[in-house]
Amino acid sequence: MFSGSPPRNGLVLAALGLALTRLSCSSLAAPDIPHIATYFGTKTRYEEVNPHLLRDALSANGSALKPPPSERCTPVHLTAVIRHGSRYPTAKNIRRIQKLSELVRTEASRAPGAPGWLQDIQSRWEMWFTEDMDGQLVMKGREDLRQLAVRLSLLLPALLSEENQRRFSVRSSSKHRCVSSVESFQEGLQLLWGRSEVQYSHRVDDELMRFFERCRGYVEGVENNRTALLEVEKFKHGEEMEAVRRRMADKLGLPHHRLTPDLVEAAFFLCSYELSIRSLLSPWCFLFDESDAKVLEYKSDLKQYWKRSHGHVISSLSSCPLFHHVFRTLDKAGRPRRSTEASPEPASILVGHAETLLPLLSLLGLYKDQTPLTAANYHAQHGRSFRTSLIVPYAANLLFVLYDCQRGPRLQLLVNESPVRFPGLEGEDAPLYRDVRANYRHLLDGCDFHRECEGRTSGRGPNTEL
Ligand SMILES: *[C@@H]1O[C@H](CO)[C@@H](O)[C@H](O)[C@H]1NC(C)=O
Ligand SMILES: *[C@@H]1O[C@H](CO)[C@@H](O)[C@H](O)[C@H]1NC(C)=O
Repeated sequence: MFSGSPPRNGLVLAALGLALTRLSCSSLAAPDIPHIATYFGTKTRYEEVNPHLLRDALSANGSALKPPPSERCTPVHLTAVIRHGSRYPTAKNIRRIQKLSELVRTEASRAPGAPGWLQDIQSRWEMWFTEDMDGQLVMKGREDLRQLAVRLSLLLPALLSEENQRRFSVRSSSKHRCVSSVESFQEGLQLLWGRSEVQYSHRVDDELMRFFERCRGYVEGVENNRTALLEVEKFKHGEEMEAVRRRMADKLGLPHHRLTPDLVEAAFFLCSYELSIRSLLSPWCFLFDESDAKVLEYKSDLKQYWKRSHGHVISSLSSCPLFHHVFRTLDKAGRPRRSTEASPEPASILVGHAETLLPLLSLLGLYKDQTPLTAANYHAQHGRSFRTSLIVPYAANLLFVLYDCQRGPRLQLLVNESPVRFPGLEGEDAPLYRDVRANYRHLLDGCDFHRECEGRTSGRGPNTEL
């Protein structure tokens, strides 16, 4: 199974390989990846962002760590903010899929000589989702997190080590899929260490991981405010989506007016779910060509942009508690200390949602395009940096690696295991920590959750100074 990759920790990895067999085999056995798999937004598999994992899911890429070679740096702390792994659709989406499959079964006209995939959709495909699956983590999602844990431990062996384990801080959102994910992460580490019995130690912390639902200004100004997501509604009924909808109705042999934009999206997601949950090339995928998929991706990106990111400043500001928590942890880990003092926390593992990661990434100033994403500028946004398929797939992660270096502590950021530079400090992969602090001074000294979240109820204008 690991042929082609150099031997690493020999026996241990072999044992782990056995424990992780199911995924590696299923992904090897599924060479047919839909041509639109990189456009599923927050429903994208992690492997689409890092395709080399399809060949070897446990390969850590050491060259992603980039402290200046001349300064003899050693990693001293990792903070990892991680999204849960692959999951079932939520009940709302399951109901939409149900509706779509019924519509096709009862109203689609069946042409003789239709292509195989269309016959599959019209006659053979069976609804297998049930409402009780509602957003739960799937087996593949557990493997996402186990494998991520192994790769991170191979990447930073001195930090995510067995000896350090008792000094890790591990926290999770209370949602079932996150708790299952944080457990899987710990399983991955302990399997790597050759433990036969896995012990869990994590804390549920919604104040930190689900800050968004506690921020009144956000909930009232954005979440429950239809006008805050006006651009999404406009695009949903705009010309690009209309064209996708008409083409899909024609392919299925459905009357145009019966196929709503929500049902178009349900078919697109169905393709994504059959891939991410069962490693299947779903017949539903053939309804879309690449340009259709790009339109549907933009629709999802618009939603995340206006609901969770730069669209409304309050969305990023709602993550102030998490921002401060991360920097407090880094402050402690980087502080000089006497040899008699206890060494600091080697790792802080924080498991949450795309809704946790996006506001924090936005607050840090990442993925902010010059022009806001709107319903009207789809074509101009072709090269945008805000692509949720790349930023927040399942098991997405934001890593802060703190190094001890000759000139003082340095901090590097990685998103989904690839280096990303701090906006404002683009000259270096791992700038001095004090420069990072100076860069975010306005937030470190402010970004007060109560003032931002209770002080006002409006969503505030788009794209103000942050
Ligand atoms: C490893 O990381 C380096 C630096 O980020 C990157 O250029 C390279 O493509 C990565 N290799 C793989 C196999 O992902
Ligand atoms: C709803 O959003 C709009 C547009 O962002 C904003 O102008 C308005 O103040 C918001 N309403 C509330 C109640 O916050």
